[in-house]
Amino acid sequence: MDNVALTQKRDGVVIIDQTLLPTEERTITLATKEEMHEAIYHLRVRGAPAIGIFAAFSLYVLADQTVTDDIDVFLSILKKHADYLNTSRPTAVNLSWALSRMISLVETSKHRSVEEVKQLLYKESVEIRNEDIAMCKAISEHGLSLIKDGDSILTHCNAGPLATSKYGTALGPLLLGAERGMSLKVFADETRPLLQGARLTSYELYKAGVDVTLICDNMAAVVMKNGWINACFVGCDRIAANGDTANKIGTSTVAILAKYYGIPLYVLGPTSTIDLNCKTGDDIEIELRDQQEIKSKFFEKPTAPEGVKCYNPAFDVTDHALITGIVTEKGISRYPYTESLAALFE
Ligand code: MRU
Repeated sequence: MDNVALTQKRDGVVIIDQTLLPTEERTITLATKEEMHEAIYHLRVRGAPAIGIFAAFSLYVLADQTVTDDIDVFLSILKKHADYLNTSRPTAVNLSWALSRMISLVETSKHRSVEEVKQLLYKESVEIRNEDIAMCKAISEHGLSLIKDGDSILTHCNAGPLATSKYGTALGPLLLGAERGMSLKVFADETRPLLQGARLTSYELYKAGVDVTLICDNMAAVVMKNGWINACFVGCDRIAANGDTANKIGTSTVAILAKYYGIPLYVLGPTSTIDLNCKTGDDIEIELRDQQEIKSKFFEKPTAPEGVKCYNPAFDVTDHALITGIVTEKGISRYPYTESLAALFE
């Protein structure tokens, strides 16, 4: 089942509702801009590349619903839809990247009819999805070159097929290795507060027959100290020009521990996640989310006093000095990242 797809009539976007996993695998169809915005905000669709693919399909559906023959009116309506969808979550750059790519296509096709441009937008959205499949496969191959049979990898959050199109980024080498008969072990951080590691990563790996052990986030140091971890593989939501990387909250803790225990930490993601407009991690906007995600969301009873204050950043920035390498579809980039990442776009 595709994680993100268009309906057969192309009048809606179908996603696996990730908030229901692992107990229920159900698809939902979204056809209005409000439903699409809500699906991103509430993480029904999540993971930076999957959000980008979803945004492209969504904008195509909204374009197809737009009734006008005037290309300028069409463009201004689409820009408003894109701006609105772009407010759903701020950190993963793939959202604005995919929306800008779709809008640029309209801007450069203004000599065409609205109907022709709608067809071009359809093709572009499919292309964004297909490119992601190819990128994830290439990332998986490069990532696999960093590990050997029998290795044990620690991962944080979920950067698997659910977060992308196929294979995933950080989980890609592990799924590809398993397909090729390698025996790999994975320790998955549960990833408080939204439990992407427990609900999604352990679910995907377990289903694929990979040897996965779920741990609470505060157990990462123990498994590292025990000598059980050969490398850490994590995903990314936005990589700044100097290599500083925003990813799920807790990633920088893993990176600091890995450095202390002499374990390599690799960030895996497509080049669409690199944002050269952000010079350093300080330029990356970090999403703040509802306090109830910490206090009550996954519990039968609240776990903290109703009125107690919570600080709930959804992401943190891992300093580039803690990152052993950044694995994209183009290969493995290493320090100094300002040069090696810029070279990817030359
Ligand atoms: O808040 P989420 O679940 O969307 O956060 C996801 C992550 O941080 C992933 O590691 C990242 O998007 C990479 S997914 C290939």
